[in-house]
Amino acid sequence: MGFSKDFLWGGATAANQYEGGVFEGGAGLATADVMTNGSHTVRRQVTWKKEDGTTGSTPLCFGSDERDLPEGAVPCLLDDEKYYYPSHIASDFYHHYKEDIKLCAEEGFNCLRFSMKWSRIFPNGDDETPNEEGLKFYEDIFDECHKYNIEPLVTLSHYETPLALAAKYNGWADRRLVDAFVKYATTVFKRYEGKVKYYLTFNEINCIEAAPFVTAGLIHGNKQNVASAAYHQFIASAKTVLAAHKDFPSIKVGMMLAFGPCYGLTADPEDQLIAMQRENNTLFFSDVQMLGFYPQYKLEEYKREGIVLPKLEGDDELLKAGVCDFLSFSCYGSSTVTTHPEEGEKGEGNGGSQERQVRNPYLSTNAWGWATDPQCLRIALNKFYNRYHCPLWCVENGIGWNDKFEDGTVHDDYRIDYMRANIKSMRDAVEYDGIELMGYLYWGCVDMVSNGEGEMAKRYGQIYVDADNLGKGTFKRSLKDSYYWYQKCIKSNGEDLD
Ligand code: BG6
Repeated sequence: MGFSKDFLWGGATAANQYEGGVFEGGAGLATADVMTNGSHTVRRQVTWKKEDGTTGSTPLCFGSDERDLPEGAVPCLLDDEKYYYPSHIASDFYHHYKEDIKLCAEEGFNCLRFSMKWSRIFPNGDDETPNEEGLKFYEDIFDECHKYNIEPLVTLSHYETPLALAAKYNGWADRRLVDAFVKYATTVFKRYEGKVKYYLTFNEINCIEAAPFVTAGLIHGNKQNVASAAYHQFIASAKTVLAAHKDFPSIKVGMMLAFGPCYGLTADPEDQLIAMQRENNTLFFSDVQMLGFYPQYKLEEYKREGIVLPKLEGDDELLKAGVCDFLSFSCYGSSTVTTHPEEGEKGEGNGGSQERQVRNPYLSTNAWGWATDPQCLRIALNKFYNRYHCPLWCVENGIGWNDKFEDGTVHDDYRIDYMRANIKSMRDAVEYDGIELMGYLYWGCVDMVSNGEGEMAKRYGQIYVDADNLGKGTFKRSLKDSYYWYQKCIKSNGEDLD
């Protein structure tokens, strides 16, 4: 009954939102380092320059339809005070890692998810030799985790590609990134053998369609380039899995999908059909990474659109052989679609901003329009398990809020309510539906810069960080009410949700 004895409880982070220290330790720049801050209403921008000295910025990020930098523009940092780049300081984990890991250990975590900045290890992405300072930085982090019996989970690529590769090759549209990535992955497998058991290849690999620059370093992100880049990431993932299985048998390599159930608003079969198609568009990515081949519905779509996959001889066999060891996913809520716009109310975020999307009248949303769905985890877990019959791991779930810091803490009952409902629905999936679940990692356990908005105001953490949207503050850590609630929940292995 309930969660297994070795269930992995903890939190999840990503280097570009948390780590900072961008100019320290010989690191090279990543795509995320040239993205400016935004807000609820202002889109993040990618800054660039041209050979003739012209400079500017373009919103290639989430929520923008722009998919190209201007002709001849190269993404780069601009020394202009009108631009602020939040990844450069982020939550300054670079200088606070000992303190953060200790606080997480005291919260009861036995697992912590980090991402590694590829360009901290290979500053240009494809250098001959790795940067020892970068390797040592992560090694110290993993050693610190093991001091407290915390198992690290490492994402090899979480929304950052080495900037040099984006500029030189248009990112993952070019097959040369495959070998560069596999070299990076095997370098870290070897270096951290015995210290890191679990890796993920690409964070939210399916977000490539919505955010081609963020996810795959595409400075020209038309449909063909997106399809090619996704194809190359699949090949890189398969090669990485095979390399681990061959030389590092203790390592397990997982895939990572962004998923939220999609509901049809009405009982009209047309609504159910478009909901299914939306989900297929997401599950296409896990179909390839967990089943080892492109599903027919995607191949038909590509055929209709004239998209050609950059396939080489032997690739089909590679995809088949290199399926991932487990499926990990993020799940924050659900979305709702309809073919009857007159019956639905438009909203924001996944609460109704996209084409044919509407608010779900049964669900509440946070200030960014994200719909909170107390059954989303149970539904997601059942869908995955019935389709793939593989071990599953929820590596992101959480709620962003404009927390009020008063008297040295945050009284975040809304976060506790969210976690209570989500953990309960996950427990039901395990207890009543027999799902094989490896663990649960709460997203953004320590406050960090939001990915979509690039601001600090949208906080997820159970640990408060004193920093504002422009990286000003003491960076002092304080514990919110949700910290103590989660501590109690973990101590009871998910039984005590009061
Ligand atoms: C996931 C990403 O999509 O959602 C994280 O993997 C991100 O990087 C998280 O931070 C929450 O999104 P946001 O935009 O609120 O930070």
